[in-house]
Amino acid sequence: MSSLPLPMAPEPAADPILVAEMQAEVRELAKARDAVILAHNYQVPEVQDVADYVGDSLGLSQQAAEVENSVIAFCGVHFMAETASILAPEKTVLLPDLDAGCSLADSITAEQLVQWQAKFPEAITVMYVNTTAAVKAVTDYCCTSSNAVAVVEEIIKQHGPEVEICFGPDMFLGAYVQKITGHQPMHIWDGECHVHAGIRPDDITNVRAEHPGADFLIHPECGCVTSVMEYVAAGDVDADGVQMLSTGGMMGYAAEAAKDGSKRDVIVATETGMLYPLQKAAPQLNFIPANAEASCRYMKMITLEKLRNTLRDGSGEVKVEPLIAERARLPIERMVAINP
Ligand code: 13P
Ligand code: SF4
Repeated sequence: MSSLPLPMAPEPAADPILVAEMQAEVRELAKARDAVILAHNYQVPEVQDVADYVGDSLGLSQQAAEVENSVIAFCGVHFMAETASILAPEKTVLLPDLDAGCSLADSITAEQLVQWQAKFPEAITVMYVNTTAAVKAVTDYCCTSSNAVAVVEEIIKQHGPEVEICFGPDMFLGAYVQKITGHQPMHIWDGECHVHAGIRPDDITNVRAEHPGADFLIHPECGCVTSVMEYVAAGDVDADGVQMLSTGGMMGYAAEAAKDGSKRDVIVATETGMLYPLQKAAPQLNFIPANAEASCRYMKMITLEKLRNTLRDGSGEVKVEPLIAERARLPIERMVAINP
């Protein structure tokens, strides 16, 4: 599947006074509606700052299942809101812009998955959480970037080393999981996220030349994952300074650095929204984007104003058809339970 030349979104400039006023309005509306605001790490800063919880895909799913509020205002993309609705069917899940999709989730349909599975009837299917509810409904296990390796290891533990696995839809994450687990009978779908696939080996070469000795934090969806692993294997990059992490894992790295107060350059290969929470968590570190153009236009469709409108009007409800939701719940619950 080829990389789509989708436009990258510019970061919006915001007037600080208007932002503070609207954030106060959002908090009041959330309270009146008994809503919790969940936001992904790639959301714009003014949305992150008004949220009750900011995190990665796994953390957001766990929060959706645990919170007691009757409404979840989900600041992220559509598949995330669907996942929240499946895990918390009694709650109302609101997405401030229903067009906030995901190029990776679009890279496989349920029909395509069923046809692929028919070629490997014995295989266990593992689908990344960045998929539609319909795809999850024909999946055995879901995973996120923070537990993909642990999910595959669990399947090997339960079914033995010969177990055949169909993994998708992200080919870079699939190649990474296969390399780490060394598992062979594994078929990998050739989908990708246009933002992460756009972070190429050349970006790493260039940014390394500008910041020699910097640490690397790399999201396993990135198009540069294989080449960085090769640099490490060849001894060109110090293995100690390279970490393949989910966005939540990157936050863990920042929290550790904040404790010891150490100062250094850190190159971050993921969507650029991540720089904001990282810099906030560890201000003494110098976080540098591996590719400053890597902005997800879908994530940036959620604005403070749209969040205000959704809370005010109760608009943007995401509901999953009950039969699909019922079938999709088991692979999602398996994912949520495997927390490395
Ligand atoms: P995580 O937050 O789980 O690392 O996922 C990143 C992502 O691309 C979500 O769209
Ligand atoms: Fe999807 Fe990529 Fe955007 Fe994440 S960054 S929501 S995977 S398009």
